[in-house]
Amino acid sequence: MHLNELFDVIFRWAHLIAGIMWVGNSMLFNWLDRNLEKSAELSRLSQGKIFMVHSGAFYDVEKKLLEPGEMPAMMHWFKWQNFSTWATGICLFVVVYYLNGAGFLVDPSVHDIDKTVAVTLSISALFVGWLIYDGLWRIVGENNPRVATVVSIVLLFASIFAFSQLFSGRAAYMQTGVLIGTLMTGNVWMCIVPSQHELINATKAKREQDPRLSIRAKQRSIHNNYLTFPLLFIMVSNHFGSATSHPLNWLILILVMIGGAGIRHFMNIRYRGGGRELAKAAWLLPAFGMGAFAIAGLMVVSRIVPKGVVDSTGPVAFSRVQEIVATRCITCHSAQPSDDVFRSPPAGVLFDTPAQIKVMAARIHLRAVEQQNMPFNNKTQITPEERGELGRWYRDGAKLDAPGPASAPR
Ligand code: HEC
Repeated sequence: MHLNELFDVIFRWAHLIAGIMWVGNSMLFNWLDRNLEKSAELSRLSQGKIFMVHSGAFYDVEKKLLEPGEMPAMMHWFKWQNFSTWATGICLFVVVYYLNGAGFLVDPSVHDIDKTVAVTLSISALFVGWLIYDGLWRIVGENNPRVATVVSIVLLFASIFAFSQLFSGRAAYMQTGVLIGTLMTGNVWMCIVPSQHELINATKAKREQDPRLSIRAKQRSIHNNYLTFPLLFIMVSNHFGSATSHPLNWLILILVMIGGAGIRHFMNIRYRGGGRELAKAAWLLPAFGMGAFAIAGLMVVSRIVPKGVVDSTGPVAFSRVQEIVATRCITCHSAQPSDDVFRSPPAGVLFDTPAQIKVMAARIHLRAVEQQNMPFNNKTQITPEERGELGRWYRDGAKLDAPGPASAPR
């Protein structure tokens, strides 16, 4: 295993574990908040109680403020799950997109920028993004949240578009994800945690807590709540080349993000107003609706097939396919790749023998003819005619022998 792959696996695994802990915690607390039961018997400082059954016993939980001066010796915080998710995510981003000769970050067919420039832009976008967002919400958002919300959404969508014009498709998605993750982490450490500190200090000092900090924290945790589902989609988006490498990839991402945030919205409001039983079923429909919106956006836009394939007029012999694969694909997809960046066959895909080509025929067709995101960044400069020939061979049954009546009986 190469060093790069080793780091990839370590950070990816850790990132997934930390991410599950962070998102899991935050969803559980959101759920608790929504389901608290308020009753007249509870104390003045109580915000509600809840009983749960899990792991063989009952949990009796109360959400409340404390009497001035009253502070338990042991307090559990929930902030390191967030930090470790962010830190491992950044490491993974560096390993996959900045190292490897920035091969995954830069796609010359999108924008031919220098590696160092691309990495610098990518890093600066995170800092600048946080400064603009945090400034906007401190200066405008605390008095005028509607305006700040609209401006934030417009800016986020504009950055998605800008990333899609600068970086490779998959990198544009990930850059958006890292930006969102950075904003969320900034929210936790610069707004939510300080507000919790203030709550503790105020309780200890027997004084009122500064309302500005708690309003700010509340706003930011709502943002984090809505950003979760879009971010989770981006985390898995690399599996969907039809989305990431589509010329309208930015539009697809925006539609899916709207759908994802929409699902979260209907989960958030599910118990608001009216009988619980009624509300329970009522939230599902619009939530599914938003899911359907996201999937429809994904499917409809990716159907708009990009040009770049010239259909072959006649049948194509396997020997010709082998020739194309040998010049355009084998530099990477071989047991011993000759590519300067990919030292081991990417995704474990090999095209050294006819049998290996045949068994991957459907994927070859998908990646090289339909999605046109192989060869990787078209590094080996396949032509539209050659894509057409691969397509014709596949549609004719992906046979290993010569086509047409002249072919020998099998
Ligand atoms: C410059 C290196 C490079 C070249 C040349 C290249 N690939 Fe790839 N290929 C990759 C990388 C990197 C991955 C893994 C990332 C991904 O799936 O996008 C990959 C993955 C794949 C996969 C497996 C993933 C899947 O979707 O099943 C297939 C199939 C594939 N390539 C087909 C091709 C074909 C066909 C060609 C030639 C027309 C080709 N590749 C040329 C780098 C290359």
